[in-house]
Amino acid sequence: LVLVVDFGAQYAQLIARRVREARVYSEIVPHTMPVAEMLARQPKAIILSGGPSSVYADDAPGIDDTVFAAGVPVFGMCYGFQLMARGLGGEVAHTGAREYGRTPVRIAEAGTLLAGVPVEHKVWMSHGDSVAQAPEGFTVLASTDVTPVAAFEDLDRRLAGVQWHPEVLHSEHGQQVLEHFLHHIAGCRQTWTMLNIAEEQIERIREQIGDEGRAICGLSGGVDSAVAAAIVQRAIGDRLDCVFVDHGLLRKGEAEQVERDFVAATGVKLHVVDAQQQFLDALAGVTDPEEKRKIIGREFIRSFEGAEAAVLRAAGLGDDTDGGKVAFLVQGTLYPDVVESGGGAGTSNIKSHHNVGGLPDDLEFELVEPLRTLFKDEVRLVGEQLGLPAEIVWRQPFPGPGLGIRIIGEVTADRLEILREADAIAREELTRAGLDRDIWQMPVVLLADVRSVGVQGDGRTYGHPVVIRPVTSEDAMTADWARLPYDVLERISTRITNEVAEVNRVTLDVTSKPPGTIEWE
Ligand code: XMP
Repeated sequence: LVLVVDFGAQYAQLIARRVREARVYSEIVPHTMPVAEMLARQPKAIILSGGPSSVYADDAPGIDDTVFAAGVPVFGMCYGFQLMARGLGGEVAHTGAREYGRTPVRIAEAGTLLAGVPVEHKVWMSHGDSVAQAPEGFTVLASTDVTPVAAFEDLDRRLAGVQWHPEVLHSEHGQQVLEHFLHHIAGCRQTWTMLNIAEEQIERIREQIGDEGRAICGLSGGVDSAVAAAIVQRAIGDRLDCVFVDHGLLRKGEAEQVERDFVAATGVKLHVVDAQQQFLDALAGVTDPEEKRKIIGREFIRSFEGAEAAVLRAAGLGDDTDGGKVAFLVQGTLYPDVVESGGGAGTSNIKSHHNVGGLPDDLEFELVEPLRTLFKDEVRLVGEQLGLPAEIVWRQPFPGPGLGIRIIGEVTADRLEILREADAIAREELTRAGLDRDIWQMPVVLLADVRSVGVQGDGRTYGHPVVIRPVTSEDAMTADWARLPYDVLERISTRITNEVAEVNRVTLDVTSKPPGTIEWE
C-alpha cells in the first residue's frame, strides 16, 4: 500500500492512478489525517501531492515533520517537494519567480531517481516558491532556469522529491521517474495486477456475503454494473439474482448484449423486465427534458422494485414479518465516488427506501460494492480479465435516461427506431476508423420536431436532422468537441442519409462544455 496525501490540488487522484499503473496499490488520504494514523496502515511508501498554496501562506496545509523520520520512504511532488525541503531544514524561497506549464529541466546528477532519463527534457511545472537549498544529506539532481533545486534524493533515508508534476502526461518521462521511486528507492513490489485485483475482490465479497446470504444486482447495460455483477457471481454463484429493466431506450443491440452475451460470458441468473410499453405510455406527449428525466427515473425504480420484490419473495426473503433478514444489494460504486464523498472505509447499511414495489418496510439491504477501490480504467481491465464481452467493457458513457433524452421532442416508438438506426451507423463508422477509444462519447441526437427540405434521387424530401456530438473529455465535467477526420464524418453522413429514410440532414455539434452540456437535454 502506498498512501497519497492529498493537499487539496486536483492531482491526488491522478497520482494514485499512476502508482497503480506502476502495479503498486495506492489509496488517497487527506492531509488532515494524523501521521500516526497513516503509519498505522503500514504503507510501503508515502507520496505528498501538489497543492494550490505557498508553504508560507497563512492557511497553508501541512503535515507533521515526523512523517520524514518514520523510516517509511517519502516522495514529494511540487508542493509536497517544498514541504519536504522545509521540514528537513532546507530553504524554500519566496523568489517571486513563477514557473507554469512546460519547462525544460536539466539533470546534473541522475542518481537513482532520474537514472536513464534524458539530461534535458520538458516537465510540467506549476509553482511560485522555489527550493533554494536542499536539506542536509540530500543530493541535488536537477535544476531549471528559475529553480536551482528541482529534484533531490537521500537514498539512506529513502526520501526523494521533484518540483514538477510527474503524474501529468505533459511531463516527459514522468511515469519512469515515479517508478524509479516506487520500485528502486522504496522497494515496492509489483503485485497490483488485474488478475490479483479480480481474485482479491471475489474473495472479499465471498467473506462479506457468507455461505447463506443472497444478493441482488440491477444491470444497466453499462460497464460498472456488469463488472460488479460478474465479480459477485464468481463469489456466490447463483445466490446472485440480476435484474435488467429493458425500458426500450437503449441503443441498437445493447439489450441483446446484456440478455445474451453477458449471460453467456458469466452465467448469471438474469430476470428481464420488458417495460418498453410502460415507458412509452408514461412518456407519451411529454417534451420537457426535466419532465422526461423524472418520468424515466420514476418508472425505472417502479419496474426495478417490482422485479426485486418478486425475486426476494421467491428466495423466501420478502415475506419475513419479523424483519431482520438481510439481503445484499450490489452497486457499482467506483473509487472516485468514494474519495469525493469523503472516503470512509467499509460498507454502509442502507434502509430500503422502497415502497412502491411492495417490499416490506423492515427489509434491510447491506451494500456490496466490489468496485469501491477501483478507477474506471481498472474496472474495464478487470472486466476483460473476467471475460466480459468487449462491447460492454469498452462501452462509452451512456446516460441512464438513454435515448429518451436524445430525442428532442416527444419520445415515440417510431422516433426511437430512427435514432437507433442513425446512432448504430455512427458508432459503426467510428469503430471502423479505430477512433472508439480516442473520444469520450459521441451522442447522436434526433431533432424530432424539426424538418428541413432536401432532395434525394429526383424527389423532394422533408425529413429530420440528426446531430452528431463527438466529444473528448477526462471526466465529463468539461469537454471539447472532437476533431473527427472529415472522411469519417463524410461516411457517417452519407450512410445515415442513405440508410435511414426519415433523416435527410446530418449536422455536427462544435460546442465545448461549457457552455454546452454533452447531452442535448
Ligand atoms: P452532460 O450532458 O451533463 O453529461 O454534460 C455529462 C455526462 O453524464 C452523462 N449523463 C447521465 N448519466 N444519468 C446518467 O447516468 C443521467 O441522467 C445523465 N445525464 C447525463 C452524459 O452522457 C455525460 O457522459
